Amino acid sequence: MANLQVKDLVKSYDGKNKVLKDISFTVENGELVSILGPSGCGKTTTLRIIAGLISATEGQILVDQKDISKVPVYKRNFGMVFQSYALFPHMTVFNNVAFGLKMKKISKKDIKQKVDEILEITGLSQLASRYPKELSGGQQQRVSLARALVVHPQLLFMDEPLSNLDAKLRIKMRGEIRDLQKKLNMTVLFVTHDQKECFAISDKVLIMKDGRIEQYDTPENIFHHPSSEYVARFIGYENFINVDHILDDHTVESKDLLFITDESTNQAKTLTIRPENIQINSSDNSSQNLIDGIITSSEYLGQSFKYRVKTSLGNFIVEESRKAMRSSEDKVQLYLPSKHLHPLSR
Ligand SMILES: Nc1ncnc2c1ncn2[C@@H]1O[C@H](COP(=O)(O)OP(=O)(O)O)[C@@H](O)[C@H]1O
Ligand SMILES: [Mg+2]
Repeated sequence: MANLQVKDLVKSYDGKNKVLKDISFTVENGELVSILGPSGCGKTTTLRIIAGLISATEGQILVDQKDISKVPVYKRNFGMVFQSYALFPHMTVFNNVAFGLKMKKISKKDIKQKVDEILEITGLSQLASRYPKELSGGQQQRVSLARALVVHPQLLFMDEPLSNLDAKLRIKMRGEIRDLQKKLNMTVLFVTHDQKECFAISDKVLIMKDGRIEQYDTPENIFHHPSSEYVARFIGYENFINVDHILDDHTVESKDLLFITDESTNQAKTLTIRPENIQINSSDNSSQNLIDGIITSSEYLGQSFKYRVKTSLGNFIVEESRKAMRSSEDKVQLYLPSKHLHPLSR
């Protein structure tokens, strides 16, 4: 395990177009940090530069305060797990996992001990003599994880390792990865485009947009205090209110309606609220943060209903847990509690 510092990373593949623009962040010892962002925003490029698989156009990578830019890849003790498992089809599970150690000229006895230990930890002991084609997708991904872990890497990099698994297995495997990471106290950088996945397992989340860092914080802080409309949309905020005037530090006006927020409205351009935090026909006796509307469509989500509500400020998406569905054309009043209404400055 180690501490990782990324400083002022810039990358251009063609000498003109910058796909990474000034990426800087730190991952502390024993932390699991996820890089989250849509396809093409530069996640894989960032990870590959840090792992040493491609070079940066500008910038520095420090591991435990030492610049590793000039250290050849084979001398860096890093582990990598990819989306494709990249197992050797003609080798057993044991030999796939042992491969990296054999390259290091370690004695046969030590190899067997180290491989057995990792197979035990990753729950693969019973499958040691099988070939990859005799394994399920989840088991194959576990082998590729075991192969990365067997060298006791200083840093572990994972690039969308769960994307080829079905939804249920993905949830199980992400829990296993988190447990292992904590048990072995590893520093891990994990790339994903799945918001739920990375919020579930990360100490911190780095959200990228077009080659830049949009926000880097704990999942809780990002969830409750998104730094921009881009981040808010990415993590499930669906309602945005344009701010026309800032009246005081906690009050804004939008089309003659007043909204109070718990957070400071200093510099607010928009307000945002999640669908599940809006109340329909609330019994709270609030005289503020109310908007009249009419339901224009509804959707059954199993545990709840989702409504589109037309108002003078545009359409709102509201999710409500309730036994019976409200009908379309119903006149409703929306209540936006001040503690759930977040001001955004960009
Ligand atoms: N080898 C390459 N040569 C040229 N452009 C590339 C190469 N790899 C990635 N890119 C471009 O760099 C940008 C970032 O790609 P990538 O890091 O793979 O994004 P992500 O992993 O977030 O989907 C994209 O516009 C992509 O087309
Ligand atoms: Mg990628």
